[in-house]
Amino acid sequence: MNREEFQQQHGIIGESTEIQELVDVIQQVAPTELAVLITGESGTGKEVVAKAIHNSSLRKNKTLVSVNAGAIPEGIIESELFGHEKGAFTGASETRKGYFEQADGGTIFLDEIGEMPLATQVKFLRVLESGEFTRVGSAVPRKTNVRVIAATNKDLEWEVEQKHFRADLFYRLRSVNIHIPSLRERRDDIPMLMEFFAKEFSEQNKILFEGFSDDAIEIFRNAQWNGNVRELKNIIQSMLVVEKGKRIEIDDARKYVHDFIFKNGRSKNLPVYTAKTVEQAERELLYRALLDLKSGIIDLKSFLEDRLGVSAKVYDGEGKLLSPLNQTQTISANINDEMSLAEMEKKMIRDAYTKFNGKKSKMAEVLGVSERSLYRKVRELGLE
Ligand SMILES: Nc1ncnc2c1ncn2[C@@H]1O[C@H](COP(=O)(O)OP(=O)(O)O)[C@@H](O)[C@H]1O
Ligand SMILES: [Mg+2]
Repeated sequence: MNREEFQQQHGIIGESTEIQELVDVIQQVAPTELAVLITGESGTGKEVVAKAIHNSSLRKNKTLVSVNAGAIPEGIIESELFGHEKGAFTGASETRKGYFEQADGGTIFLDEIGEMPLATQVKFLRVLESGEFTRVGSAVPRKTNVRVIAATNKDLEWEVEQKHFRADLFYRLRSVNIHIPSLRERRDDIPMLMEFFAKEFSEQNKILFEGFSDDAIEIFRNAQWNGNVRELKNIIQSMLVVEKGKRIEIDDARKYVHDFIFKNGRSKNLPVYTAKTVEQAERELLYRALLDLKSGIIDLKSFLEDRLGVSAKVYDGEGKLLSPLNQTQTISANINDEMSLAEMEKKMIRDAYTKFNGKKSKMAEVLGVSERSLYRKVRELGLE
């Protein structure tokens, strides 16, 4: 099968050289039994790639079990993955097969592998290497025959350095690593993705869509957003709903891109937009507007708390949480009479920069912004 046919069949849209190379690698590894590690920012298409691998592998007629390791509470992750015997713990009234057993003969897709607890990682490595595992509450080793596809948006090498991720597991997994570049590293895919999502959504909802003007597409292609394919899809769907299929001109494009950047910077915790119909989409838009409002209030609240020195998180130079007493002192020393928002932002960035010796990941965590925009702002402020 040639590359285009493969992309068509597996819904991998894109024509950039990056996507072409990626698809070539997928086609090479899919028919093997090798474990694959897929890396890339959130929303770049890791799940799309995982499915394409399974569906073009020799196991395509067997099950694909998808597990989000980051969504399972630590206390039950082992019984979820490896199963448990009746009576293994309070509440274990039945014997239960774990995901590795359910996937026997097929493929297991372990998403957010970087979130897996260290103790579980040892057991995962064991299945990976020998297919062996034991159910919780049992001493009997069992065997399963699964192909493993793992994914993460974390920098696992960094996690290994931080001792959050086992080095042996990392080396074992990364032997076949498919990295999906962020959307801004493959802007050539943007026009094609826009057309694809618009067509798909308008057909599903029987909307008559009048298309994008060329310069509207250019706005999207050149936008400085931090989002990926998922976010692009969301904007296109919102646009079609709100504009009722009307042709998207340059000003519309500017507005939606701007709104997205603004919202995304402020409320990263909004639920993923997954509406399928216009009614659902409208409801979700409303819901998001409410959540936005709520997060605005939370921002305001934490801002006030910061100023008043109540229950705010303040860290010292080594990243240790300061006691409330110290916090109050630090904060009251920070209060200035009248500061514009822009000045305040600059001050917060400078303070965080000093506190964390310029360490962007820490700064990003505390300030609630992306590391990427921090790099830019730090440079703008002349700190680096
Ligand atoms: N190359 C692509 N072609 C078509 N749709 C894509 C592509 N990449 C991502 N998507 C879509 O974007 C959304 C996010 O993709 P997903 O695979 O869930 O990302 P990730 O797992 O990396 O967070 C999904 O709706 C998916 O269908
Ligand atoms: Mg995902």
